[in-house]
Amino acid sequence: MGESVLTAGFGRVDGTLHCDGVPLDALAARVGTPSYVYSAQSIREQYARLSEAFAGAPHRLHYSVKANSSLAILALLRELGAGVDIVSGGELFRALRAGYSGSGIVFSGVGKAEAEIEEALRADVLLINVESEEELRLVNEVAGRMKLRARIALRINPEVTVDTPHPYTRTGEKGMKFGIPHDEAVRVASIALGLGHVLLAGIDMHVGSQIALFGPYEMGLQRLLALLEQMRAAGASDIRYIDIGGGLAVTYDTERPIDVTQFGVRTAAMLAGTGLELIVEPGRFIVGNAGVLLTKVLYRKRSGGKEYVIIDAGMNDLLRPSHYNAYHRIEPVTPVGGRIVADVVGPVCESGDFFALNREIDDVSAGDILAVHSAGAYGFVMASQYNSRPKAAEVMVDGDRFGVVTERESYDDLIKGEHVIPRWSAL
Ligand code: LLP
Repeated sequence: MGESVLTAGFGRVDGTLHCDGVPLDALAARVGTPSYVYSAQSIREQYARLSEAFAGAPHRLHYSVKANSSLAILALLRELGAGVDIVSGGELFRALRAGYSGSGIVFSGVGKAEAEIEEALRADVLLINVESEEELRLVNEVAGRMKLRARIALRINPEVTVDTPHPYTRTGEKGMKFGIPHDEAVRVASIALGLGHVLLAGIDMHVGSQIALFGPYEMGLQRLLALLEQMRAAGASDIRYIDIGGGLAVTYDTERPIDVTQFGVRTAAMLAGTGLELIVEPGRFIVGNAGVLLTKVLYRKRSGGKEYVIIDAGMNDLLRPSHYNAYHRIEPVTPVGGRIVADVVGPVCESGDFFALNREIDDVSAGDILAVHSAGAYGFVMASQYNSRPKAAEVMVDGDRFGVVTERESYDDLIKGEHVIPRWSAL
């Protein structure tokens, strides 16, 4: 039989892997592969866990759209009462399409373009999280032109040490590109107080992603609260939000899961008496384990004494194994018995196109459907068309029902916007 089931929403019935009430072999036959499959119920449960965990403090949960920006998922979370955290004009567009209003949106990001700032102000977002003095001045200028006062938070680099599975997912260490350096925060706050078209309404941090311990948050929060004192002393009387970013870890393998209850209790204790409303921007925690990537085994082969399992999903569909050397559990939907040690690789013409190296998995043969687990976050959103591979479909399961929420791309989609003959012009 397959490996033990860790993923909420996914379990075996008579040996066959199901997403809630839907058997995944039959689903693959119906919608084709590769396809992402998400459990609506699992997303609801994770959201509820967070709401309960933070119940001890006035708080707002702003789902981080970058983790999975499918309209159906955004709409599901909106119904549950979530806000969103966005990082681009494109994500703003999606959030508005999914029915969010400006008051449910915070806008983060290290390099917001002027047009994006303008779009955010037009949508009247709750907060623009400003990451540099130059950005602050630009927001003020754009808001002035639009005859508005922009509500902003200062994203401060708390400069704490964080341990994440890969250096690429650390953001809150000294010298990183994100946020206002810690020792400049009070000066930038004073500048904000002197500008006529911004209202300094919050402070913000984000320490990294896939963080299982409270330590880095606690340290960062302490540093933010100390800065807040200084900012208030300097006249900042409108700061009412404290945004601690996202980053809460999920279980990919056998890691100890984050204790969200403890996280919520300790955060609430630290914020008691500050008069601040907490904002949390979780992405992965809500959707990470709510999705799998279904893929078909195309071939088996041996090369140089090694076993290869060649599947119809590639690094263009799920980049995390090749980009971060990330672990994703892989198992056949219907195991037939036996174990092998193999490299599970995709069809893309890159040696880095792998899902697992030298991994012990259930024995599989051509035609078998595999589930690549914990693919709900940073899966489809990081997909590309590299090797001219149309993007996969996305499917939502709710109980016994399923529905395609993103159609599989066609070959025509691959050439959308292209011109065989350039539309020449001269300047
Ligand atoms: N807020 C900010 C400002 C962020 O930069 C991020 C993630 C989040 C919230 C949400 O973090 P989460 O709760 O999902 O960990 N592609 C990488 C992860 C990059 C995360 C970037 N920022 C991966 O696949 O592991």
